[in-house]
Amino acid sequence: METSHQETRNKQDFDVSIIRPQMHNEDVQLRGRGLPPSRLRSIKKALLSLHTLEGMAVNIYKFQVTRRESELNRQLIAAMCNEMTHLQDFQVKLFEYGWRPSKLRWMYLTAGFVLGFSSRLMGTKKVLRTGIWVETKAVDYYEELLQTVDWDEDTRRVVQKNRADEHGHINTWRKLLESS
Ligand SMILES: [Fe+2]
Ligand SMILES: [Fe+2]
Repeated sequence: METSHQETRNKQDFDVSIIRPQMHNEDVQLRGRGLPPSRLRSIKKALLSLHTLEGMAVNIYKFQVTRRESELNRQLIAAMCNEMTHLQDFQVKLFEYGWRPSKLRWMYLTAGFVLGFSSRLMGTKKVLRTGIWVETKAVDYYEELLQTVDWDEDTRRVVQKNRADEHGHINTWRKLLESS
């Protein structure tokens, strides 16, 4: 639910069962004109790293999925979809501001493949522990960027929703780990 105080929105205010929120044509906007260069610099740096890290997250889950019929695989596919949403969110924001993705992205995409594939080879528990480890780092990083970057309001909302999603992933992997 929308709250009147934007800054007080936190994880509980977002429905993490929505893994691909609806987006309207008008939601795409050209941004950044008139903002001071220092503010733009910090937004750019944050968007570039978030876009890069979300690409890594997509690859981790993509290469963790197996063909087995299991709740784990169903949840991994849902998480992959959700990370693709995050990737799309930040890619759109980068282009709205007139920027382009990082040239070093391939290194992180490769790291995502390595993390995903190697954990899959080591079995269910390793898959879940890797997810918890990566997502915990992601939540901390989102937290830091929400506190240190002076976001435009639309982008801040996206960052907050995505942080809530990462938190949701941790909960999902923890529950599956308990029952595995
Ligand atoms: Fe994500
Ligand atoms: Fe995630």
